[in-house]
Amino acid sequence: MSPESILAPLRWQQHKPVESDAVVHIPLEMVDAILEGYSGNGRVCESSVQVERLVNQWKPRLAASPGFVCLQIPDAFFTDDDLRTVYAVMSKSLGQLNQRYGEFFDVKDHGLDHTKSAIPISKTRACSGFHTDSSSVDYCPEVVGLLCLQPGYRGGESLLANAADLYCWLWKNHRVRLPSLEMPIKRDVITPGTVQNRIEIDRNAFPVINLKDGKFQFRYMRYWISQAYQKLEMELPQGLEKSMDLVDQFFHDPRNVFSTKLSRGEMLFVNNHHLCHSRTAFLDAPDGVHKRTLVRTWIDSLRTDNICDAGTASSAFLSSDDWCAEQSESAATSEGIHI
Ligand SMILES: [Fe+2]
Repeated sequence: MSPESILAPLRWQQHKPVESDAVVHIPLEMVDAILEGYSGNGRVCESSVQVERLVNQWKPRLAASPGFVCLQIPDAFFTDDDLRTVYAVMSKSLGQLNQRYGEFFDVKDHGLDHTKSAIPISKTRACSGFHTDSSSVDYCPEVVGLLCLQPGYRGGESLLANAADLYCWLWKNHRVRLPSLEMPIKRDVITPGTVQNRIEIDRNAFPVINLKDGKFQFRYMRYWISQAYQKLEMELPQGLEKSMDLVDQFFHDPRNVFSTKLSRGEMLFVNNHHLCHSRTAFLDAPDGVHKRTLVRTWIDSLRTDNICDAGTASSAFLSSDDWCAEQSESAATSEGIHI
């Protein structure tokens, strides 16, 4: 496959998506059926077929352009638990959820500073800068999901940009810079619970751009790259600084960026292989109660099988008893997790 044929389906080109390209409405009847199903009235199987039909309608938008969807539910009163339940069903219908931070991880400001210790930026209120999720050589989710339970009081917009378009822009205008992005680049090790020492940082190396075997993958977070070389007391590889300046230049051009501020109940699913995302800095409400809260999930890879045709309940459509068991297990083992 030529690079052009790999990249073409992923690109926005001159047509940066608008809100209507991304929004999918979940019918109230489906939300009710999901919630009733999990309250134990036996409608799970029926709603699972409806959910699968709906998900199959918009799943192709994640695999190729525009690379993201924003699910909206009707403006009705739903509790946090209701929203988490609907989000869990939608997420699990897309694919296997990763457990590194627990299946669902509350993204909120913990008053921490990622510049003072190796902690994920998801635990701060700082601007994240454009990045893809996971800085580990061993793992990269295909899709990142975010459910909004409480928007930021000020700021906290979600920004998206297309790395396939970036690649084509570099190829056209700065081709000489591509090799420095296609060689293994070291990243800091930040996943909680992992060994964080020089040997592990040295091992934690992979390219920013990988365009081979018929696939395109972009993995970038400048801050963790800089941190890795600083901790190893090594110079950045020759030319990398200049190449990353160009990457950031592309991502900071508003013509290349889709911006949205999620409202309560909205669910954003983003391809993490060819889109890059960022979050603007935010402030929580002065009352100290309404803290910006998004619930993140990492989906290993998009499911390609037809789960309903299999004739068995998949993990996305557990019986009520299984669901309760999974809830207790998850709550017991994961920090800040609450499905
Ligand atoms: Fe992120």
